[in-house]
Amino acid sequence: MEIQGKSWQTIWLVNDTHVEVIDQTQLPHNFKIKKLIDVQDFFWAIKNMVVRGAPLIGVTGAYGLAFSIKSDASDANLNKNKILLESSRPTAVNLKWALDRVFKKIHNLNQEDRFFAALKEAQIIEKEDIKMCSEIGENGLEVLENIYKEKLKKETNCSLNILTHCNAGWLATVDWGTALAPIYKAVRHGIKLHVWVDETRPRNQGASLTAYELKSEGISHSVVVDNAGGFLMQNNMVDVVIVGSDRTTSTGDVCNKIGTYLKALAAKENNIPFYVALPISTIDWDLEDGVKTIPIEERSAEEVKYISGIDINGEVKKVQILPKGCNSYNPAFDVTPAKYVTGLITEKGICRPDKISLKSLYFG
Ligand code: MRU
Repeated sequence: MEIQGKSWQTIWLVNDTHVEVIDQTQLPHNFKIKKLIDVQDFFWAIKNMVVRGAPLIGVTGAYGLAFSIKSDASDANLNKNKILLESSRPTAVNLKWALDRVFKKIHNLNQEDRFFAALKEAQIIEKEDIKMCSEIGENGLEVLENIYKEKLKKETNCSLNILTHCNAGWLATVDWGTALAPIYKAVRHGIKLHVWVDETRPRNQGASLTAYELKSEGISHSVVVDNAGGFLMQNNMVDVVIVGSDRTTSTGDVCNKIGTYLKALAAKENNIPFYVALPISTIDWDLEDGVKTIPIEERSAEEVKYISGIDINGEVKKVQILPKGCNSYNPAFDVTPAKYVTGLITEKGICRPDKISLKSLYFG
């Protein structure tokens, strides 16, 4: 997608020597590229959210595993680094999925062939991610078109009002995004729309990343505080909610950024469709009850205690917002049970959030 008229991906390989990524900890105030060379670079980039978003975490992990065996492709080193990378963030299942894919491709090969085979597989995962997200966009476009057509029957020249939480845009993937992909496609198809962007405390991925993406693409949007969603929905200011997913159970429960569940409850209460856009790699076929079984990442309490932004001199500053000595608690994700989800938008099509529909979508 575009930043100041130039096309970017979030991650790219440079000459088999390293990978470069857009440093998302610097956005929206600074645009910086970070080099990832050895396994520690990849581990820290995922853990410290230089890269984040379930699909992008997966692609970064895949490259990380490849580079981790560049100078030592022994079984011991491969296994050790797979475990290390998998531990970098626990909730997004795409990480394990991508690491398993690379591992399966190379573990039966001779050691001298492993690095290039792993790199090739990581590149395939990267390319597939772009294609999948574009397809999610096309499938989601159909949903938006239908809702917009219904709205136009009642109100001429109206906008479609979409609410989204966190950042499930192109910055969370290699390109296009998941929840934002249908929005990008809809704008290209001439649908007039407005996006309500939840700021998404504590790390503010909505305010800093989603708003940055939408602004760069020239798409109408307003950032709202996390607690505004209920008000907007109650007052007919939202036509549809679309979010992403870090892990989806085989029964259609969806785990996404903390606060997603509350939006789903408000949407249900107000009869507003609540869609989740996700690649199939986000489905954990082994799990059924998402609330009981999905591991929820607990991040540092410091993220709640401090907030950062630019001061009047344009300098990035971190300031404390809690009284000294106060405790905080920072679960990073929550689970929205399937009963609150209208539909799952995947690269293979749209389906109801239940076992039978998901299986028939996937297995044909
Ligand atoms: O903690 P983050 O920023 O990695 O969380 C990201 C999200 O919650 C996204 O909505 C999710 O990964 C889906 S991304 C397409």
